Amino acid sequence: MRKFVALAAFAAFVAGLSGPSRSAAEDKKDPEIKVPYVPTNMAVVEAMLKLAAVKEGETVYDLGCGDGRIVITAVGQFKAKRGLGVDFNPERLKDCDEAVKKAIADKKLTSEQAKTLTFKQGDVLKMTAEDFKDVDVVTLYLLPEVNKRLKPVLQKGLKPGARVVSHDFDMGDDWKEDKKEEVKSERTYPHTIYLWTIKK
Ligand SMILES: C[S@@+](CC[C@H](N)C(=O)[O-])C[C@H]1O[C@@H](n2cnc3c(N)ncnc32)[C@H](O)[C@@H]1O
Repeated sequence: MRKFVALAAFAAFVAGLSGPSRSAAEDKKDPEIKVPYVPTNMAVVEAMLKLAAVKEGETVYDLGCGDGRIVITAVGQFKAKRGLGVDFNPERLKDCDEAVKKAIADKKLTSEQAKTLTFKQGDVLKMTAEDFKDVDVVTLYLLPEVNKRLKPVLQKGLKPGARVVSHDFDMGDDWKEDKKEEVKSERTYPHTIYLWTIKK
């Protein structure tokens, strides 16, 4: 039921959005599945990184990174060594640049830490197992269908002990989470966050 509410809320959010029409060139680059942009509440970002137990020196990837808040927090607050955010939408990559500048101005990130952050345009559905070989934590706020498609790639590419954390959506019945938590925010229903640890 919760999952349905989360999906419906996602759809309602998107229905309320309007944007400029895209050029054919941009359409050509469009991924097969485009998850709408809904930023994760900052309290939930912190809870996700805590649930994943991000440690100093680790590498964190956010697939579909929006304004980059998850990897910025991972590096600035949790002292991750490196963060990578991937998003298909060039507007989001501009948001990431702005968010990095703001985090530096707000003293939440040093200029040195900012150099360890990379934001890349790309389709997460085209990522391969090889892309994840040195990654400790992967964060997701996508949709069940995208999580399902990413599952075999993450399972093959991530090393044992690497963690995957997802906001609101699980990975399907054959990937039972190791932990699940609820986080409250001003949203009318709680956020669910899921943790899986890779075993081989
Ligand atoms: C729900 S938002 C989450 C943003 C961010 N991870 C957060 O939690 O704040 C999903 C993001 O994924 C991006 N996205 C959707 N489909 C994608 C795809 N196939 N490849 C890459 N990025 C995608 C969207 O542009 C959007 O920024």
